Amino acid sequence: MTSRFPPIAVLLGGPSAEHDVSVVSGSAVADALEDLGHRVERHLIDLDGRWWRLPAGSRGPADPPSAWDDPVAIGAIGPESAAAAIGRLADADAAPVVFIALHGPFGEDGTVQALLEAARLPYTGSAVAASAIGMDKAIFKRLCRGIGLPIADWREIRSDRWAADRAGVLGELEAFASGTGDPRLMVKPARLGSSVGMTLAHVEAERAPAIELALRHDTLVLAEAYVAGARDLEVAVIGNDPARLELYGPGEIVAGHEFYDYAAKYTLGLSRTTPTADVDPVTRATILKIARDCYRAIGAEGFARIDFLLNPEGVALSEINTIPGFTPISLFPVMAALGGHSFGAVAERIVELALERHAGAVRPRLTPADLPR
Ligand SMILES: Nc1ncnc2c1ncn2[C@@H]1O[C@H](COP(=O)(O)OP(=O)(O)O)[C@@H](O)[C@H]1O
Ligand SMILES: [Mg+2]
Repeated sequence: MTSRFPPIAVLLGGPSAEHDVSVVSGSAVADALEDLGHRVERHLIDLDGRWWRLPAGSRGPADPPSAWDDPVAIGAIGPESAAAAIGRLADADAAPVVFIALHGPFGEDGTVQALLEAARLPYTGSAVAASAIGMDKAIFKRLCRGIGLPIADWREIRSDRWAADRAGVLGELEAFASGTGDPRLMVKPARLGSSVGMTLAHVEAERAPAIELALRHDTLVLAEAYVAGARDLEVAVIGNDPARLELYGPGEIVAGHEFYDYAAKYTLGLSRTTPTADVDPVTRATILKIARDCYRAIGAEGFARIDFLLNPEGVALSEINTIPGFTPISLFPVMAALGGHSFGAVAERIVELALERHAGAVRPRLTPADLPR
């Protein structure tokens, strides 16, 4: 079989709390693309950020992800720094298109995307700015509120302000909670994922410890109004051209815990998902419209998953994930599959969008004559 694509370099693992889920996502993507006849290289990034080239044809570990904890044992070549590994990819005779199957800081926040831009390699998903905005819950919320999308109200706490004036911060949070009429606040680091460092602070006394915990992960923390009794709904979006996006869902997650925390996300069997949430047609249309508006607003490309909180009072936009989970049971590929794409076809479509964007990219080249005098 010959492929109409260049070799596909799949990046998996990564130095984040979502390392393990990325290994599962990335190897499922790599295996599916290989089954469709594409030339696939797998690049494992370990928890220390070192890059390893896996032997050709390394199929996803049968008992992931611990099977790949020791890259040397499975014959991987490396380690290399990110810059060295990307430089080598760019210099290869057949430069690859890069499928970034990484989640969280480094892989999803614009860092890898910027390295790939510098190397002029095509890569999947959003570019630098949209990736960074998607990862930063504070900037994302300011932007979405600015264009009038419904989003839970919040306050921001900087580490330096907290260090200087805890009492002042706690006083402002008390005023904020009194205003919403509910003492519960969802406290979270601004730029992380997988619910790491998050606490539902039920009462005033729980706020300071919640802030301390979140500040261990970031210098900026959000305290959000708690959306009580909410259902977690998710929409899959695919496309580059904002006028021709494909939307799937909403699907639903029924968290096995008080909220969709780390354990609820990654303990097998604790939470249930369905790619077709039971919602009335008006709510569904509202959710899809907000998803489209949000995707456009941050300038997302390729694909993304947009999450919602739905309670009897209405729909609230929750967050965008510019590299959603891509395991065979993840909602993103499962929702897209209902639209008629197989798992492999979804991955292939995302690679195609990466190549399209790369081909259409305009890289300004100014000469001194172009400059105003
Ligand atoms: N303001 C909120 N009100 C109610 N539930 C929330 C709120 N914020 C987050 N949650 C719950 O916590 C989960 C994780 O929060 P989220 O902001 O999506 O963080 P992450 O980026 O780590 O996934 C959500 O799926 C939802 O169940
Ligand atoms: Mg989330």
